[in-house]
Amino acid sequence: MRLTPTMTGLSTPAPLAFAFTAKTSAHASRGGAAPLMLDDAGWRAWWQRPSQAQERALYIHVPFCRKRCSFCNFFENGANPARMSRYMAALCDDLQRAAESPFGQSRPFSAVYVGGGTPTDMAAGDLSRLASAIRRFPLTVDAELTLEGRLNGFDDEKWQTALAGGFNRFSFGVQSFNTAVRQQAARFDDRETLLARLRALTRHDEAVIVADLIFGLPGQDEAVWRQDIADVMASGVHGVDLYQLISMAGTNLERAQEKGRLGWAADGQQRTAMYAYGAHTLEQGGWQRLSCSHWRRTDAEQSRYNQMAKRGAEILPFGAGAGGNIHGHGLMYGRDLAAWHEALAAGQRAPGMVMRPNPDARLDGLLRGGLDSGWLALGRLPPPLRAHLLPLFERWQQHGLAERIGETLALTLAGRFWNVNLQAGLFEYLQSNPLGGEAATPAAHPGGARHHSRG
Ligand SMILES: C[S@@+](CC[C@H](N)C(=O)[O-])C[C@H]1O[C@@H](n2cnc3c(N)ncnc32)[C@H](O)[C@@H]1O
Ligand code: SF4
Repeated sequence: MRLTPTMTGLSTPAPLAFAFTAKTSAHASRGGAAPLMLDDAGWRAWWQRPSQAQERALYIHVPFCRKRCSFCNFFENGANPARMSRYMAALCDDLQRAAESPFGQSRPFSAVYVGGGTPTDMAAGDLSRLASAIRRFPLTVDAELTLEGRLNGFDDEKWQTALAGGFNRFSFGVQSFNTAVRQQAARFDDRETLLARLRALTRHDEAVIVADLIFGLPGQDEAVWRQDIADVMASGVHGVDLYQLISMAGTNLERAQEKGRLGWAADGQQRTAMYAYGAHTLEQGGWQRLSCSHWRRTDAEQSRYNQMAKRGAEILPFGAGAGGNIHGHGLMYGRDLAAWHEALAAGQRAPGMVMRPNPDARLDGLLRGGLDSGWLALGRLPPPLRAHLLPLFERWQQHGLAERIGETLALTLAGRFWNVNLQAGLFEYLQSNPLGGEAATPAAHPGGARHHSRG
């Protein structure tokens, strides 16, 4: 059995700070999926075949932002109004075609995620057309419809249009409430403006509001972080994500760091303390942990799309740069807007990659979803796989990353902080130590979803 520190973490008295040397940002998967050549006739045939999936969602990508934030590499295209409206018109036509197809109609969708970029930057008229296009799909009565974006520019007209169109969940990037930290990160608005807007949007509980916070931004010291947590808890939001700042290639932050102009930022150890503080304070305040990075104040917040994506549900992707999976095949569209427009106008499939189905998709989804939530139900694993993974899990226990509670492997606070490393480590372990016969387990869910969501 081959066990390496990237799989097991290190043996240290302080696993939260030192179990791994760097936080991985990649999506964990077994890897090695081979591309598939699919011609237009094959593609059209896919849309005539009914889905076999047990659960399905739509992912709709809106790759525009008005500003390039210092820390982020999700920026793809400047949000020029004419360019965005042209894109939204083509996207709505594409959605309509898909919704009318036998594949689109064959089974209901329980979640829709409109992500980016900054989808809240689209014009109110485009938002209304998008909502109508989404409603052409068969949606479950309680379907979760999320619109992602930012508070700046999301005025009352857009808010009312989105609610009238059926959006019932909004995910806003706040990052930090601190005005000085925000300015350094090239964000709009100050603390008071954000808090006032969040209070207004949550006053009548018309929809679920979720805020993203990042810890580790330049200038964000412990006192600022404590205030960020206090602010988000008092803001009225129903859910919050706490993300550690990941160094991303091509960001302005990376360039500033290279030139030695970054200024003060928390180091790895300080960040682990920030994560621990945020988790404890939220949980002591009665917030419930739904995943390693997500907490909710009320059970109106379900975070259904993110959980479905981790489990490997069928996700129909739309838009340049969108990813998902159809009939068990991973699918990733290219980011080039011109090429995307050209293909759609010619009635062809948008340029991108199609992958062969992953025969282990159901199990991979179970493992990924379990680790992401912080609880892995060992009894749901086939006995040979469970036995095969036990040596790895025992190391995690020895290293303070997990605990056994009966048939559940529960990640500790340190395990939850390093959960993406644990996911990557687990798939590396399975690749280095293949289990004969595991691939023969029948797959109830199609292949692992690749979508924009963060690990
Ligand atoms: C696709 S972005 C959309 C955010 C939205 N456009 C906004 O301006 O707030 C989703 C989230 O990714 C997170 N994110 C972006 N860059 C990150 C980084 N370098 N490290 C950690 N989280 C990051 C942010 O919290 C952000 O809210
Ligand atoms: S944080 Fe949002 S607005 Fe800023 S660059 Fe990233 S996706 Fe665009």
